[in-house]
Amino acid sequence: MTETPEQTFTLTNDQTGESCKLPLVEGTYGPHCIDIRKLYAQTGHFTLDPSFTATGSCKSRLTYIDGDKGILMHRGYDIKDLAAESTFMEVCHLLLYGDLPNRSQLDKFIHDITYHTMVHDQINYFYRGFRRDAHPMAIMCGVVGAMSAFYHDSLDIYDPRQREISAHRLIAKIPTLAAMTLKYSIGQPFMYPRNDLTYPENFLYMCFGVPAEPYNVNPILTKAMDRILILHADHEQNASTSTVRLAGSSQANPFACIASGIASLWGPSHGGANQAVLEMLDQIGHKDNIPQFIEKAKDKEDPFKLMGFGHRVYKNFDPRAEVMRESCHEVLEDLGIDDPKLELAMELERIALEDPYFAERKLFPNVDFYSGIILKAMGFPVSMFTVLFAVSRTVGWISQWKEMMEEPTLKIGRPRQLYTGPAERDYVPIEKRG
Ligand code: CMC
Repeated sequence: MTETPEQTFTLTNDQTGESCKLPLVEGTYGPHCIDIRKLYAQTGHFTLDPSFTATGSCKSRLTYIDGDKGILMHRGYDIKDLAAESTFMEVCHLLLYGDLPNRSQLDKFIHDITYHTMVHDQINYFYRGFRRDAHPMAIMCGVVGAMSAFYHDSLDIYDPRQREISAHRLIAKIPTLAAMTLKYSIGQPFMYPRNDLTYPENFLYMCFGVPAEPYNVNPILTKAMDRILILHADHEQNASTSTVRLAGSSQANPFACIASGIASLWGPSHGGANQAVLEMLDQIGHKDNIPQFIEKAKDKEDPFKLMGFGHRVYKNFDPRAEVMRESCHEVLEDLGIDDPKLELAMELERIALEDPYFAERKLFPNVDFYSGIILKAMGFPVSMFTVLFAVSRTVGWISQWKEMMEEPTLKIGRPRQLYTGPAERDYVPIEKRG
């Protein structure tokens, strides 16, 4: 980030004529930012931006998004190149350490992750406290937060090596915990991780293997799973990542911070959208009903929205959606699935894209529109979809947390507010209250 004294932005108060100069800061790409940190001291005013539509919360070297051009890059690499050429393990290394690994770095990283995939055996009993019909995200919030109670030797957030071990533990154990969540909900025994399998193979094995039978690795499903993991790995300062950073800014431990990210991801406006897409397709039921649902989505009096459409940042297309669309067809073809839901989804996509309401507002299918269909074809229950998102995003969250913890000027995050409640009033004793 560069900051030159010549680059300033002047704010003038129309009423008093007073003005204040604020520094303009410039990143590698993207619009310049007005650094408002001294605004209150200079003017006595705060800024108000409740949904952060015009506010940057941090500097970051991890991910760049240009929503208008449909660009997503991690550490300078285009997501489409990463999805086509890299494995998820390479992308994890890239996010966590800043560069794609060479062969020996990759081998070491895979070794480090692989040998952390087992969870403390006591965690098995922890699951039994949940109802079998608990939402998998509810279980994930609990068990990931509870990791702080098991891994005391990596909780010193001021020790870089302990931070690294926590990061490895989270990336390694989150698939194990997610698979245990699935197994618990369907009443099958937990499958211990297998170190001879790759990260996506092991995850699919722990989800779909059973002790009674050998497990056959399907290369097409493995590749699709790896791509899903890559495409969801990081997405700069979205709601869940900002939640992780805000929690971490108070010096909370990394497991607690990631649990807070999982809670934030759960909502249907964020990671919960892939589940919501499938539920919406069920609700629509048949192609003939699409126009009626399009009208509902356009009706401002109706809370219904087309799930899987629109994005806070991508206002032309979501580059992840293009890759996911391709994977979607590959998986369905391989599995020989002729899913009427996919046909319905494609028709919905076609009709919505032709509708001026969606075109004018630049509402395009996002990554979740397609990921739900793939995950369903692979055999994941709909309620697990957001858990899959959490498995992928854990590396992004922990890399963002690590980057923040390495900042020498780290301070607790503390937004201000515009108070709109009652003005000061006299206390009324209970017997005099109306
Ligand atoms: N269906 C119908 N209308 C929509 C939709 C939609 N899915 N999304 C936005 N709009 C309308 C919205 O009503 C508004 O209309 P108007 O200008 O007439 O008031 C306009 O489009 C702009 O929308 P917005 O609400 O200001 O956009 P936002 O940036 O605040 O919201 C969003 C982004 C993703 C929350 C929203 O588009 C949405 O709820 N989409 C459906 C849920 C979804 O698919 N979420 C997954 C996001 S991708 C995964 C991730 O990165 O987490």
